[in-house]
Amino acid sequence: MKGLDLTGRVAVVTGASRGIGQAIAASLHELGATVVLTARTEEAATAAAAEVGERAHGIGAHVADEEQAQACIAQVMERFGRLDILVNNAGTNPAPGPVIAQDRSRFMKTMEVNLWAPVLWTGLAHRAWMGEHGGVVINTASIGGLHVSDMIGTYNVSKAALIHATRQMAMELGPKVRVNAIAPGVVRTKLAEALWKEHEAEVSAATPLGRIGEPEDVGSVVAFLASDAASWVTGEVFVIDGGQLLRGGG
Ligand SMILES: NC(=O)c1ccc[n+]([C@@H]2O[C@H](COP(=O)([O-])OP(=O)(O)OC[C@H]3O[C@@H](n4cnc5c(N)ncnc54)[C@H](OP(=O)(O)O)[C@@H]3O)[C@@H](O)[C@H]2O)c1
Repeated sequence: MKGLDLTGRVAVVTGASRGIGQAIAASLHELGATVVLTARTEEAATAAAAEVGERAHGIGAHVADEEQAQACIAQVMERFGRLDILVNNAGTNPAPGPVIAQDRSRFMKTMEVNLWAPVLWTGLAHRAWMGEHGGVVINTASIGGLHVSDMIGTYNVSKAALIHATRQMAMELGPKVRVNAIAPGVVRTKLAEALWKEHEAEVSAATPLGRIGEPEDVGSVVAFLASDAASWVTGEVFVIDGGQLLRGGG
């Protein structure tokens, strides 16, 4: 397919030491990109990058720490000279249960990592490269941002806000920069263990495509969205859930 090639592009994927982020990095790398994987520690990021391939590199940066974020983007620019693709993927869920049961600290931690960090990193990437040269931003939201839930209320509020921020930034940053979101369903990762580990058969049975997601199911869609094959797509949210949302999303 024309455009499905990322040779010569440089990508940053936040929260990529494992799970969905590492799979996204692997898919971008497979299409030819040089990929920078971030995580809270340099060791974890570098170890994950070594598994991805020779054009993959790790940098340690807490996504919600402005100085560390700035230093990471500066290092990418210094080392690779460009930044074409940013995947704001790092996410957290320290506040299970109803949204009104949270204290300020857990509520704000969720918002800082899931909502503020994507806005922060997009601004940094825009100022460093994309504003002048163009680029693509993809935000990892969740089907939780498209429905309400008894289990993960605050997380879902943060992901719903991230979907809205995606549309807002798509409007602000066009025509040079495309900004889209993905909304995965239940995927086999550490973060989502509470949603599948004890009852995978049940979740699979309730999923129209008959299984929970694998991180690679998400990586391939992100690689498509990052490529020129999706060059007329912006401000959208791509549900990747095997059909789980059709039954209410669990
Ligand atoms: N799994 C699902 O079912 C599912 C569904 C919908 C959406 N999502 C979203 O997908 C994204 C990835 O989650 P996952 O399921 O792949 O989880 P995961 O396997 O637990 O991975 C989370 C990643 O984020 C990094 N991370 C966490 N906090 C960070 C911070 N403050 N700064 C920098 N990196 C940080 C972790 O690295 P370190 O711990 O090494 O720092 C790790 O690489 C999240 O945005 C999540 O909300 C997941």
